[in-house]
Amino acid sequence: MTGQPLPGFRDFFPPEHAALRVIFQAWREASRCSGFTEYEGPELESLELYTEKSGEEIVGQLYHFQDKGEREVALRPEMTPTLARMVASQHRNYRKPIKWFSIPRLFRYERPQKGRHREHYQWNCDMVGEKSVMAEAELIGTLCLGLSLLGLSAKDVVVKVSDRSWWDSFLEKEGVGEAERPGVLRALDRMEGATPEQRREKLGGLAPAVEAVWQGKSEDSAALQEVHRGVKGLGYGDWCETDYRVVRGLAYYTGVVFEVHDRAGKLRAVAGGGRYDGLLKRLGGEDLPAVGFGMGDAVLAELLREKGMSTPSAGGAEIFVVAESAQQEMAWDVVGQLRRSGFSTDYDPGAGKWGKQLEMAEAKGARWALLVGREVGEGKLGVKELATRKQSEIRWRKDAAGKICLEPTPGEWAKVLGS
Ligand code: HAM
Repeated sequence: MTGQPLPGFRDFFPPEHAALRVIFQAWREASRCSGFTEYEGPELESLELYTEKSGEEIVGQLYHFQDKGEREVALRPEMTPTLARMVASQHRNYRKPIKWFSIPRLFRYERPQKGRHREHYQWNCDMVGEKSVMAEAELIGTLCLGLSLLGLSAKDVVVKVSDRSWWDSFLEKEGVGEAERPGVLRALDRMEGATPEQRREKLGGLAPAVEAVWQGKSEDSAALQEVHRGVKGLGYGDWCETDYRVVRGLAYYTGVVFEVHDRAGKLRAVAGGGRYDGLLKRLGGEDLPAVGFGMGDAVLAELLREKGMSTPSAGGAEIFVVAESAQQEMAWDVVGQLRRSGFSTDYDPGAGKWGKQLEMAEAKGARWALLVGREVGEGKLGVKELATRKQSEIRWRKDAAGKICLEPTPGEWAKVLGS
């Protein structure tokens, strides 16, 4: 035993978990503001769901095994096949367009490196049942909102949009047969960072035409013009640029595709998505159009760290109740009352010495100490703000039934604590 998790897997100690929570909050808030509702699916799916739909790259990274019922199963490497399966089976019960989001933990056996792990959390937003390109704009607007809630702007990131249908017509014009096109697109997807010589070597006769595209000499397709119009309308025009070099590795995309990159170009894609109109039908469902994206927590956290934007405190309890040993029962009663009133409240279960308890309150990052000390006999409790050492008092009494009543009641404590 090494004390370390498996390679590519992460422990989230409270400070890292606090940073993750900030990201989740922004994702949830952006989803809510954009009218997406949350769903969840199983972590384990049939292997077949991925071997047939996701494409070579992800299939090579699957964690798969035979379960005790001799089924071939896989840990989900992405959410889109699950979403498509779920929608295909129940879509009649939902008004179109369906706008759903989820934050699954996904598993891919990749080579671990900066921002790449063997598990990650991924914000997925998908819209099913909408043909118009405004769906793409809506999804891009939603991911920009999520990033802006984390403090990022068009200066930090760029949404690169491209169009697989445009590539399809381009390849057709260049004489590439339908059956060979997926292979060419896969090769194009892997060309990031390749030199013009390497591109020539891989693409042969196709290289000069592709080189012109690579240098940004092609016009926006009609679909891309519409996407830019919609994204601009939603207020994110300066976040978005056409870049035909983006083709996306997954096999199911059929139209507009997009990726979010850091402007400095140092990291891998923060998010990726696009239109996948044929997938639901291939899963035995109705022929419904669909668009969506996935944004990973790991590259995003890396980017936020680089920009110095990720320092949330791990946050202990707000109030720490410090008590004389003779007052333990009274302290437990007060702890219970405060918790039931919504205050996060902690105490020393080992009932250490007064000074030790105060030390514990500070070490755990509490903002307030509630002092159940000698003044209890005079009907008083102290409230100390730990950072400023400012202290005030509240009163307590027992009612006719012997119940401890705080004055003001915990419901009115916002006034006492001045927050
Ligand atoms: P993807 O491009 O494979 O798309 O992943 C989306 C994002 O997830 C990536 O841009 C990256 O930030 C993050 N990601 C992927 N793999 C890893 C990894 N091994 N470690 C850390 N982060 C990772 C999809 O998964 C599509 N299913 C997205 C989608 C949803 N398309 C339509 N709807």
